[in-house]
Amino acid sequence: MDLFTSAHSLVRAHAPTSPATCLRPHAAARAARYFRDKFPGDVLYAVKSNPRIEILDAVHCAGINRFDVASIVETRLVAERFPEARLSYMHPVKSREAIREAYFGCGVRDFALDSPEELAKIEAATDGARDLTLLVRLAVPNDHAEFDLSAKFGIAPARASALLQRCRAVADKVGVCLHVGSQCMHPASFATAIDLVGDVIRSSGVMLDIVNVGGGYPSHYGDMTPPPLDAYMGEISTALARVPIGEGCEIWTEPGRALVAEAASTLVRVDHRRDDHLFINDGTYGSLFDAGVPGFVYPVRAIRRQGGGSDRMMPFAFYGPTCDGMDYMKGPFPLPDDMAEGDYIEIGQTGAYGATMRTQFNGFYSDATAILSDVPMLSQFTEAVPPPQYDKSGTDQ
Ligand SMILES: Cc1ncc(COP(=O)(O)O)c(C=O)c1O
Repeated sequence: MDLFTSAHSLVRAHAPTSPATCLRPHAAARAARYFRDKFPGDVLYAVKSNPRIEILDAVHCAGINRFDVASIVETRLVAERFPEARLSYMHPVKSREAIREAYFGCGVRDFALDSPEELAKIEAATDGARDLTLLVRLAVPNDHAEFDLSAKFGIAPARASALLQRCRAVADKVGVCLHVGSQCMHPASFATAIDLVGDVIRSSGVMLDIVNVGGGYPSHYGDMTPPPLDAYMGEISTALARVPIGEGCEIWTEPGRALVAEAASTLVRVDHRRDDHLFINDGTYGSLFDAGVPGFVYPVRAIRRQGGGSDRMMPFAFYGPTCDGMDYMKGPFPLPDDMAEGDYIEIGQTGAYGATMRTQFNGFYSDATAILSDVPMLSQFTEAVPPPQYDKSGTDQ
């Protein structure tokens, strides 16, 4: 895979005709080191947010040897890549075949569930194994998150006691897991959720071996500047101190977005301009899903092959390449007012839930990838990034 000091150098060297994923594994490593050093417990990487090998390797090299997997394909991928890693199957609804293969074929012992039916399924698919770690997924408010995950999964705290007691009877270890919703903009959401864990412990009388506070930590986008991650760490530690858990209780977290959002951007080319609308060659069926209906305003910068162009900025909306009218990203994306066909745009912060969402719809799939050594377009981490080391184009921006 080609290495460049910036998306600009990539454009100068190749003038790509298809959208390209620009990976910055060093940014994933930096974020991983933050969580490793600052979270008061164990960090699992939520593989779904970006399962690319380069990203998995960066996170792993930064000292994260635990992974939240949510499908059998993710489980196989990580088990093969890191045979010594611990995998936790945190999807609360799984097929019997997936549970069986994960347990017998990939060494998975940790399983999430949110219903008695799923517990029975796990018991049957593992032939009544007695070495399981079972985590009951609690439904918690997702009020401050951009993506609500509470309606689909989680047992209401009032019904969780009975399920926890049943898990205690068959499992080696028992825990509670939760998710405050993705891109959670308020640290207090973690405190609210952890307080609910405390209520469940008191009402069930079950001493927990694990409290898994989930993912949900935010990243920075063009229109979203969340509080510092340190505030989330502080809120979590303070709330945990109120919960009746023993000294031996493990605390887990499973971030996705905040670990990898900064670790990629998407390089697109303008195929057509109509007034303040740019028709670009990637879109909501490609790596820009979140810029569609979810309305994320990714940071953008114009890249001209020869440099130059207007200094005056104006807001643009984007259309993606497919025939579907929903392939629309309203932005507003601020770019020079003379943007025209053939210009390139680097769209930042697409490392989480970006390229991994790409579809083949309308034949517009692109797998073009480059590694960049420069800093991400936005960052919430302060550790210095190593200086650029390699540039295929031979010149710097
Ligand atoms: C069970 C579970 N854990 C962790 C994550 C990662 O969440 P985030 O990317 O918001 O940190 C998700 C995301 O859907 C999830 O469902």
